[in-house]
Amino acid sequence: MRYLFLLFIALSLTAQAQEFKTTSPDGSIQLSVSLSANGNISYRVNYKTKAVILPSSLGMKLKEPQVNLDQFKLINVDSSTYDQTWNTVWGEYSSIRDHHKELRLQLQDKNSSGILMNIVFRVFNEGVGFRYEFPQQGKLAHFIVDDENTQFHLTGDHKTFWIPGDYDSNEYPYNETKLSQVDAFPASDAAVAISVRRPFNKNAVQTPLMMKSNDGLYINIHEAALSNYPAMDLVIDKKTFTLSSSLVPDAVGNKAYLAAPATTPWRTIIVSDKATDIIAANRMILNLNEPSKVANTSFIKPQKFVGVWWEMHVGLSSWDYSGGQVGSQQATKVPHGANTANVKRYIDFAAKNGIDGVLVEGWNTGWEDWFGKWKEDVFDFVTPYPDYDINELTKYAASKGVKIICHHETSGSATNYERQMDTAYRFMLNHGMNSVKTGYVGRIIPRGEHHDGQWMVRHYVRVAEKTAGYGIMVDMHEPVRPTGLQRTYPNWMACEAARGNEFNAWSVGNPPFHETLLPFTRLMGGPMDYTPGIFEIKMSHYNPEKKEQVHTTLTKQLALYVTMYSPLQMAADLPENYEAHMDAFQFIKDVAVDWDDTRVLQAEPGDYLIMSRKAKNSPDWFLGAITDEQARNFIQPLSFLDANKKYVAKIYHDAPNADWQKNPMAYVIDSFIVDSKTSVKLNLAPGGGTAISFIPATDAQVKSIKKYK
Ligand code: NOJ
Ligand code: CA
Repeated sequence: MRYLFLLFIALSLTAQAQEFKTTSPDGSIQLSVSLSANGNISYRVNYKTKAVILPSSLGMKLKEPQVNLDQFKLINVDSSTYDQTWNTVWGEYSSIRDHHKELRLQLQDKNSSGILMNIVFRVFNEGVGFRYEFPQQGKLAHFIVDDENTQFHLTGDHKTFWIPGDYDSNEYPYNETKLSQVDAFPASDAAVAISVRRPFNKNAVQTPLMMKSNDGLYINIHEAALSNYPAMDLVIDKKTFTLSSSLVPDAVGNKAYLAAPATTPWRTIIVSDKATDIIAANRMILNLNEPSKVANTSFIKPQKFVGVWWEMHVGLSSWDYSGGQVGSQQATKVPHGANTANVKRYIDFAAKNGIDGVLVEGWNTGWEDWFGKWKEDVFDFVTPYPDYDINELTKYAASKGVKIICHHETSGSATNYERQMDTAYRFMLNHGMNSVKTGYVGRIIPRGEHHDGQWMVRHYVRVAEKTAGYGIMVDMHEPVRPTGLQRTYPNWMACEAARGNEFNAWSVGNPPFHETLLPFTRLMGGPMDYTPGIFEIKMSHYNPEKKEQVHTTLTKQLALYVTMYSPLQMAADLPENYEAHMDAFQFIKDVAVDWDDTRVLQAEPGDYLIMSRKAKNSPDWFLGAITDEQARNFIQPLSFLDANKKYVAKIYHDAPNADWQKNPMAYVIDSFIVDSKTSVKLNLAPGGGTAISFIPATDAQVKSIKKYK
C-alpha cells in the first residue's frame, strides 16, 4: 500500500514538473531548464558528455515589495535561433558571428504579488548566457532587490583562480587554489594601496572566475552588459561546490533599484575542454551586449601613447606642484612632472616614433589634497598648475601631430565629477584633446557608494555616454570589472579594473604568472590598460635602496602588446629607457592596436599563453608568447600566415641566460624568412616571453635574409 502511494506521488509530481531543453547550434552544449511541481525553477548545463552545472536554482528576493520570487507559474515558452555577423568599430576581430539558440520562459510569481518575470537563456557554441527580465507589469512598478538567488552548482572541487569579493577594488594578485581552499581574505593584503578597505562578504570571490575541473573542463563564469545593476560576486559553498550570486550593496545595504521594464545583466558560463577556446569565447560576452549606441564613431581611433606617468610611479617626479610624493613620509622633494618642458620632451619622443598620444597626469591643481583625505571638491579639471602652459602645449602638440591625453583623477568623488563633466569635456576639446583617462582612487564620496555597486555602475555608463556625446574616448581606472559594454559604447576604449603593471613599481608587485592569467579572467570582459612596455626592470636603477622590480624579462613586456589587448596601448616606460634600447622599441613602434583577426594558439591559465593577431587592414601578423616563473620551450607552427606569402619574421626573444630575477634585460633579436609551413621554436626564460612581427618580405629580403631552420 505504502509503496503504491509513494509511487503515485512520484508520478503526479513528474506529471506536473516540466522540462525545457535546448542546445548550442553545434550541439556540444546542452541546457535543460525545469519548472518543478511547486514552481521552482532550476537549470543545468552539460558539455559534450560531461556535466558542467548540476541542477541549480534561479530566482530573486525583493525587499520592496517584500516578495520571494522563487515559485512561478509558466505563462509561455518560446525558442528561437539567431545567426548574424556584425562588424566591430575596433577590437580583436573585425567581425563577429553571433550564433545562438534562445529559450525564453515567461513566468509569473505563483504567490500573491503576481509579479511578471522572464528568464531568458542563450546557448552559444562557447557557453550559456541567461538573465532575468521584469517586463511591464500592467501598473507602474519599481523594485528594490534584496538579492539575486542564482546558483552555479559545480561538479567538484575545481582548481580556481580567484580574487576576493571586495566591493571597491579588483587590484589584487590572483590566488590559485581548489574551490574548497578559497579563503577570500588572504592574510597578506598589501594588495590595495588605495586604502578603501571596507567590510565585504569574506566568502565571496569576484568574476570572471576561471576554473579547471578534475575531468579536464575549463569553465569561466562572468556577466555581460552590466549597465544598471550591481556587480555579482560569488559565494562558495565548499561542501557542495555551489556558487551563489551575491550582489554588491549600495551605501545603505540595498542591492538594486529597478523600474519595470528592466533586465539584469547576463550571467555567463563559458566552457570548453581546450583552454585556448576560453579566451576566444570573450566574443560571446560581446554578443550578449547591445550594438553600438554611438552613432558617429569617426572620432574613435585606437592608438598608442606614452605618458608623464611612470616617472611618478618610480618616484622621479610628483603629481603635485610642491613635489611631495604620494604616501611618502620622507621630506625629500622631487620635481613636478607635468611641467611644460618635460611634457614637450614626451611630445618630441612621441612625434619622432610615430606614437599618437601623450598622457599627462598631475597637470591640474588639487593633487596636494587628493589622497586619503575624503574631500569632495578636490579637483575642477580646468585649472592647470602654474608651470603647465596649456596654451603653449596645445599648440606644440598640434604642430607635432601628437594628441595630449587628459587625466581626470576624481579621487573617488564621483558626484563632484558629475557636476564638472560638461565643463571638463568642453575644456578638453578647446585644447585639442579627445581622449581622457579617468580614475577613482579611494572611497566613493560623499555617500559611501561602492565602486562595484549599482550607483557607480550607472556613473561609469554616464561617463561613457557623455564623453561619446562630446566625441571623446575614455580609459577608466578603478571602475567595476568590464562586461563587454565596449560594444555598446565603443568610445569606452579601455579600463584598468585589475592589478596593473604600476604595482610592480611600488609594491610586492605582480608575480610572473599574473599576465598569463589575466586574459582568462579580467580581459574576458574587455580591454585592459595594463601599461606594458617597461624596459628598465629593476627599481634600484632609480634608487639603489629600492628592491622592487617588474616580474618580467624585457621581451615579455613586448609580448604583452599581443597577449594583453587594448585599443589604447601605453608604451609605459620613460623615453630615455626606450632610447637606450631602440632595437627592442622597434616592436612597440610596429605592433598594431586594432586587429582583423586573433588566434589563441597555445595556453594554460596561469602557466603560459601564445597568441597571434593580424593587424587591421594590413597583411602584417604579430605573435606574443609569455610564461610564468618557469622556463618553457614550444614549437609553434605558423599556419595562421597567408599561404601565398613569405614574411620577414623579426623575433625578439630572451637571451639564453635571461631570467626575470637574475638577468631580466638580456634579449636577442633575429630575423628570418618564414612562411605558413614554418614552425618556430620559442624558448622562454623564467618569467620571459617572445614577441614576433611578421611583415611580408620583398624579393630582395627573400634573397638576403636567411630562411628559418
Ligand atoms: C591609480 C591609477 O591606476 C594610476 O594609473 C594613476 O597614475 C594614479 N591612480 C593617479 O591617478
Ligand atoms: Ca589603479
